[in-house]
Amino acid sequence: MTYRKDYTIKDVQDVYDGPGGLLWEAVMSEQIHSGGPEATDFLAQKLNLKKGMIVADLCSALGAPARHIAEKYGVMVKGIDATKTMIEKAIKRTKDAKLDHLIEYYEGNVLDLPFKAGSIDVVWGQEAWCYVTDKERLLKEALRVLKPGGMIGFSDWIITGNINPLELEPLYDSMAFPYMESFKGYQDLLKKAGFKNIEAIDNTKAFAGHFDNYFEMVTKKMKPTILQNFGQDLYTFAENLVTIWRKAAHEHKVGSGTFIAKK
Ligand SMILES: C[S@@+](CC[C@H](N)C(=O)[O-])C[C@H]1O[C@@H](n2cnc3c(N)ncnc32)[C@H](O)[C@@H]1O
Repeated sequence: MTYRKDYTIKDVQDVYDGPGGLLWEAVMSEQIHSGGPEATDFLAQKLNLKKGMIVADLCSALGAPARHIAEKYGVMVKGIDATKTMIEKAIKRTKDAKLDHLIEYYEGNVLDLPFKAGSIDVVWGQEAWCYVTDKERLLKEALRVLKPGGMIGFSDWIITGNINPLELEPLYDSMAFPYMESFKGYQDLLKKAGFKNIEAIDNTKAFAGHFDNYFEMVTKKMKPTILQNFGQDLYTFAENLVTIWRKAAHEHKVGSGTFIAKK
């Protein structure tokens, strides 16, 4: 059990309904995770996505990964996200991309999935479950909705080394994270939920490199735009965020992991 803070889904919605969501898109791009489309292809290939499969994208945000896998692999995607602004933008962009026959969106909490038991081929998530308050329940929900033999595949920001609560607190506060799982913790939770054939990949080295880029962008290339569009307070907030996360990632205290398992 790692150190926890009492951030709730309301705090997350406030981030993604407000300027925070716009800033994340500006810095990380429309696919709001480190590694962009390459990371999405890596996960898609690990999960062996095939035409006609039904993929549930838990925390689908702007729907950019959903559009990418629907277009490239021919899968049908059910995206679910708790933030209204994200859902509205995802629906519009999916319609504009003429992919709405393959993708539908649901506004809701991933702790209570609006899908029937045994109805999904693949449960999918990219760098968002760090916001979820009860990851044990999340994985149980994932198992419930998967067909027998179905796959779960997700990446997430995780604890990868020794880090104490005093160091974790500012990291959580900068992101409104209730808690992060550890590399081992996610594998234990998958096993406890009943998943088999668990594979875990530590991407922390690449994650630290991505934070070098975010640091460059925020503090140099994009600084004038951020100041102009978002103001000094949000700039100071973003500068602090990229500074502390970059340091912790280079110290191999936090990073990202990819996890694949079978029902
Ligand atoms: C970093 S973004 C997700 C990025 C997205 N997976 C991608 O790769 O483009 C985080 C998203 O998680 C959503 N979220 C966080 N907690 C949630 C929950 N409990 N249920 C549903 N959505 C949630 C937020 O609303 C936000 O849109």
